[in-house]
Amino acid sequence: MERRPSSPSGDTESHSFVIASAVMRELLEFAQRAAAGDAKVLITGETGVGKDVLANYIHRNSPRRSAEYVAVNCAGLTESLLESELFGHVKGSFTGAFRDKVGKVLLAHGGTLFLDEVGEMSLRMQALLLRFLENGEIQPVGSDTTRIVDVRIIAATNRDLSEMVRAGQFREDLLYRLQVIHLHVPALRERRQDIRAIATRLIATSKRNVAPTEEAWKALERYRWPGNVRELQNVIEQLVWRSPADGTIDVKHLPNVITAGSALLPARERRRQIADELYHALVSGGYSFWEHIHSLFLNRDITRHDIRQLVRKGLSTTRGSYRGLLQLFGIPASDYKRFMNFLATHDCRAEFREFRNATQEVKPRPRTALSLLPPLPEPRATGQRSEGDQTADKVAS
Ligand SMILES: Nc1ncnc2c1ncn2[C@@H]1O[C@H](COP(=O)(O)OP(=O)(O)OP(=O)(O)O)[C@@H](O)[C@H]1O
Ligand SMILES: [Mg+2]
Repeated sequence: MERRPSSPSGDTESHSFVIASAVMRELLEFAQRAAAGDAKVLITGETGVGKDVLANYIHRNSPRRSAEYVAVNCAGLTESLLESELFGHVKGSFTGAFRDKVGKVLLAHGGTLFLDEVGEMSLRMQALLLRFLENGEIQPVGSDTTRIVDVRIIAATNRDLSEMVRAGQFREDLLYRLQVIHLHVPALRERRQDIRAIATRLIATSKRNVAPTEEAWKALERYRWPGNVRELQNVIEQLVWRSPADGTIDVKHLPNVITAGSALLPARERRRQIADELYHALVSGGYSFWEHIHSLFLNRDITRHDIRQLVRKGLSTTRGSYRGLLQLFGIPASDYKRFMNFLATHDCRAEFREFRNATQEVKPRPRTALSLLPPLPEPRATGQRSEGDQTADKVAS
């Protein structure tokens, strides 16, 4: 089934959602209801799942549709540039400010402001944003006048902001402000019915006579799509241009990465998957570092490379802080020395500086069930829940 929002701008084609799965249908219905109001929306999900498209969909289905939809990417800009990008600046307020600049917040007055990759904001920028969200006032850099602006905020991230809050990297008060409504876009592998529907649509758009065989469809549906819809687009584009003369796409025409099973994954990718499993088990509260990870290591079920990869993944969330890492992994702060000694003894330490000024997190990697790991034990008494659990509740509500 394909859903096209009734767009007053007439731009239905480039923003159309192709949806076949029940989970996406539900999400879209929820988004439609959210669009009617003014509440802030936080959209989460892996890279390439369609967060931008969903944000835009909400705007175009909202009463603000005739005003501007302004997107700001919070990653990739230095802190001061982001501040002036959002709030504007007056001429001469800093070197290079040759003329007054209107900020994106003001440009979105009456409309919607989309804050993309909001998890990449520095703590200072988070404080500025929070102040704006609280009083609706903007103050351009170098100006002493303020102005009230009326915008609807939609934010998006592929980071786990709750984890970042636990690690002291994201303000909890800001998270609560932003996620009045939380929409989680599931990964493509969690809604496999959408794969064929989206691919069919992409092939139709190409206007080429191309048809995958049933076996080829099955292979496409089995693949894990770490890059989600964006990756699917790339693969279909390749297939369309490289298809044989009769247009029949067989399994042998598919890229190797799709036909090779996970058993054939290169060692590095396999390790990353193990680290992802361990990381998830730790931060969602099911595993304890000393009780489980350490034991797995001693039993040689996992290697020091796996632990190092796990540490690297944690440091990318805590932006290089080992103390934050302890907190994230649920290790008591009093175990700091023991933990560092363990890493040093087994050569599992990762260089923290690499993550210090990182503006972008290492993108989340796919997780699959691992035969190497024993089943999860009873969760710890703390009863922490993962972000995914909370999301499921929200979407269903
Ligand atoms: N359900 C869908 N149907 C058709 N196209 C889709 C769908 N979902 C996403 N796309 C397309 O996939 C591409 C990636 O989507 P989008 O940019 O919204 O992802 P994202 O979640 O914002 O990714 P990132 O985290 O990398 O910013 C876009 O070209 C978008 O048009
Ligand atoms: Mg995006």
